[in-house]
Amino acid sequence: MTFSARTAAELQAIAERLGRLLQAGDVLALTGPLGAGKTTFVQGVARGLDVPADRHVASPTFALVNEHPGRVPLVHADLYRVADARELEELGLTDAFDRAAVAIEWLDRFPDAAPAERLEIAIAIAPDDSRSLSLRPRGARAAALVAGLTGP
Ligand SMILES: Nc1ncnc2c1ncn2[C@@H]1O[C@H](COP(=O)(O)OP(=O)(O)O)[C@@H](O)[C@H]1O
Ligand SMILES: [Mg+2]
Repeated sequence: MTFSARTAAELQAIAERLGRLLQAGDVLALTGPLGAGKTTFVQGVARGLDVPADRHVASPTFALVNEHPGRVPLVHADLYRVADARELEELGLTDAFDRAAVAIEWLDRFPDAAPAERLEIAIAIAPDDSRSLSLRPRGARAAALVAGLTGP
């Protein structure tokens, strides 16, 4: 399943719709080059999860993992600066998969850092600056999320 987004606002609108469907245990794996729109996408997800608008949803640069309160908690991680798989244990992601919706940027760097059942979202930058999103559901729950996103 692919989507096209001409602007950041369009990308966030898609993400917001997805955010409305998310439950604890859902995992989003966001991939794509720097500046593709992974963080921008998570900001839309946050809206769909009713994260308060005054929360600053940005790349978790220093902590590597940020948590935002919402309809279900949103845990936002960025593995770009993780140098070694051993650092992953310190991130405290493991318990998040039980109790939060988890969005992880650059999960392709450490694919085993999250459960295999997840929704992979690859964002590519087109020459006209629009973005193309490829959604690859891994597992039945992720497939249901994609169906919910494309359904009526
Ligand atoms: N069509 C688009 N979709 C998403 N972002 C866009 C688009 N066009 C321009 N942008 C800009 O690209 C940047 C994406 O940055 P960011 O979300 O931080 O990327 P990443 O987290 O993938 O490194 C933002 O400044 C955003 O406004
Ligand atoms: Mg980012």
